[in-house]
Amino acid sequence: MSRVMSEVSGHLGRGSPQNSVMNCFFWVLLVVSMTSLVFVAEATLPIPAPNIPEQCNSIQNCCMPSPYTGTAGIRLFEFEPNQPWRTRRPAHLLSQFELDRLERAYDLLRALPDSDPRSLLNQKNLHCLYCNNALYYPGQKYPLEIHNGWYFLPWHRMFLYWHERIIAKVLNDSTFALPFWAWDNQQDTNPPSNVIPPQYTNPNSSLYDPIRNNCSLVNPYVDFDTRGGICTNKTADYMRVQNDRLMYTQLVVGSPTPALFYGQPYYFGDFGGKGPGTFEDSPHGAVHAWVGDPYAQPPYEVLDDMGNFQRSAYDPVFYAHHSNVDRIWNLWLNIPGGVRTHPMSKAFNQSQFTFYDENANLVKMNVSHVLDSDLLRYKFEDFPAPWITNGVKAGKENTVALCNPISASAVNSLISKTPKHGSKDQINVTIPYTFKVGRPAKSRKGTEVLEFSGISIPNATANVDLKVYLFYPQALSNSTAWCPEYVGAWDFIPHIGQADYNPKRLWRVAVGPKLKQIGKDYVKSIVVTVVQTTAPPGQNITFDKARIFYDLSPRVTL
Ligand SMILES: *[C@@H]1O[C@H](CO)[C@@H](O)[C@H](O)[C@H]1NC(C)=O
Ligand SMILES: *[C@@H]1O[C@H](CO)[C@@H](O)[C@H](O)[C@H]1NC(C)=O
Ligand SMILES: *[C@@H]1O[C@H](CO)[C@@H](O)[C@H](O)[C@H]1NC(C)=O
Ligand SMILES: *[C@@H]1O[C@H](CO)[C@@H](O)[C@H](O)[C@H]1NC(C)=O
Ligand SMILES: *[C@@H]1O[C@H](CO)[C@@H](O)[C@H](O)[C@H]1NC(C)=O
Ligand SMILES: *[C@@H]1O[C@H](CO)[C@@H](O)[C@H](O)[C@H]1NC(C)=O
Ligand SMILES: *[C@@H]1O[C@H](CO)[C@@H](O)[C@H](O)[C@H]1NC(C)=O
Ligand SMILES: *[C@@H]1O[C@H](CO)[C@@H](O)[C@H](O)[C@H]1NC(C)=O
Ligand SMILES: *[C@@H]1O[C@H](CO)[C@@H](O)[C@H](O)[C@H]1NC(C)=O
Ligand SMILES: *[C@@H]1O[C@H](CO)[C@@H](O)[C@H](O)[C@H]1NC(C)=O
Repeated sequence: MSRVMSEVSGHLGRGSPQNSVMNCFFWVLLVVSMTSLVFVAEATLPIPAPNIPEQCNSIQNCCMPSPYTGTAGIRLFEFEPNQPWRTRRPAHLLSQFELDRLERAYDLLRALPDSDPRSLLNQKNLHCLYCNNALYYPGQKYPLEIHNGWYFLPWHRMFLYWHERIIAKVLNDSTFALPFWAWDNQQDTNPPSNVIPPQYTNPNSSLYDPIRNNCSLVNPYVDFDTRGGICTNKTADYMRVQNDRLMYTQLVVGSPTPALFYGQPYYFGDFGGKGPGTFEDSPHGAVHAWVGDPYAQPPYEVLDDMGNFQRSAYDPVFYAHHSNVDRIWNLWLNIPGGVRTHPMSKAFNQSQFTFYDENANLVKMNVSHVLDSDLLRYKFEDFPAPWITNGVKAGKENTVALCNPISASAVNSLISKTPKHGSKDQINVTIPYTFKVGRPAKSRKGTEVLEFSGISIPNATANVDLKVYLFYPQALSNSTAWCPEYVGAWDFIPHIGQADYNPKRLWRVAVGPKLKQIGKDYVKSIVVTVVQTTAPPGQNITFDKARIFYDLSPRVTL
């Protein structure tokens, strides 16, 4: 109902009717909007558990084995408070016993037959079929999509939960816990944590995957501010700073609300995700693309394995990567400042997804089942996360020097000479695009957010990567999150199986907290620079509108 009310007040807010003609127009509008509200209300249903494998139709052969080795029927998950605790540890600090056990686990998963949904091949297929347009519900036009929106975090938590239980079963070791690859930690330690954990790079190991980026052999530190492709010449020291600052923007100042962090709502029947949360795009997606092989040859796709939805879960490092994503989700909930809660929505909570349990039987889980990892009986060993304070001492988060340190009068003249956005203005790989946007009256409640809407992607089968800076018109395509003016990233990744995208897709970045961080909260308009980092020639991207509004999450007002 709150959504309904906000839709109505949205129309009411557009100017009060001045005369009877306007009044009439107003009431027609209201009736039209009430009619569409019924539609809106119907369209906000939770996702029903898909019937795998029956509902699957994958052009990439990602359907699960049918008949499979489990029994018929889908049971509903129930908590198992008597399960022993499982402690997930940093992958680069595992003991010899833990390393041997992990290698044995992936040897065993690789050896399971193709008819067994628990095999590594079928774990990969399960991820693929939820990602690349393979699950069609009867009567629905669009396939299910678990990326690009608020199911990204809970769905992957469920996937890893069952993956871990499956391994525990095949090892006959109920204390088995997945390791986490602590790429988020940039400290100069030995062994370092922001490189692919060594056991995963030994070609003799079951943890190895040959379809990876060979740049990691030359410069092993993960570059969060790249999209796969050429080897970087950034130094380790540069990347440490850049990665910490990127984490700080994506996870701290850039995502102080559930809507920004989890991503856009997605309801049963929707046309794909309407927009990812800050973390899904970066660095989660960046790490995937960095591990994938930009030179992969057919039958593989460019950026296989980790950089593509179809094959990413075939690389054992996928599970260590997502274990860290899961850990950072827990960390985010406890970062001070903002409204760091789960989305308050019944549709979110009651959405259900189907998996295979440790006995290969089908089980469905509600999103509400996985919002507290303690109830799932696993935890993460404490490990430092210096990015929470921007890589500097606590209390000094906003002391980092700007890339464009200009005086208040220079700020004002920059604002006055910068044009407003025009809907035909293009963002391409050669010319950064700078425009200004007025700020609304200050609100004591909520977070000030810049929204790009009506984003047009001429070729929906090719990817697009954008980055945005505030008050840094000198930004180029190769500028990085090293600059504190960096405020967010946006990626369009085509999903195989449906060569189109939701035209209602949005890009939102939190500008209020960023303006405070860079000492410019006093301005009446902001100067925005968008660069396209897609590999040349890139695309000519346009968008209809850029506006600033206050995000009042956790109430779902989207
Ligand atoms: C599994 O482990 C338990 C306890 O460690 C042991 O009692 C049991 O025999 C093992 N079962 C198999 C099939 O290895
Ligand atoms: C892999 O195995 C081969 C043959 O057993 C051995 O020669 C080589 O040293 C091993 N490589 C590593 C990195 O352990
Ligand atoms: C990576 O592989 C590509 C294609 O095979 C090759 O051209 C390039 O030199 C390799 N780079 C390194 C650092 O090994
Ligand atoms: C990378 O190399 C280019 C020249 O090839 C140089 O301009 C740039 O400063 C280098 N970048 C870093 C981070 O070292
Ligand atoms: C789980 O979701 C189903 C279907 O949406 C709902 O009927 C049920 O009440 C939910 N159960 C729990 C425990 O939240
Ligand atoms: C969603 O589920 C969580 C965990 O069970 C619960 O704390 C929360 O109140 C629920 N929210 C709604 C809107 O149902
Ligand atoms: C970028 O846009 C400018 C005009 O805005 C155009 O001159 C240039 O050719 C475009 N570059 C590419 C690679 O499309
Ligand atoms: C769209 O992108 C795909 C993938 O990069 C490419 O193969 C195709 O030629 C492009 N189509 C057009 C019309 O540029
Ligand atoms: C970025 O690109 C510009 C021109 O395209 C070049 O002059 C500069 O050296 C590059 N900077 C880095 C850090 O690579
Ligand atoms: C972008 O548009 C310009 C004209 O504004 C055109 O010359 C260029 O080829 C286009 N670039 C791409 C990648 O489509």
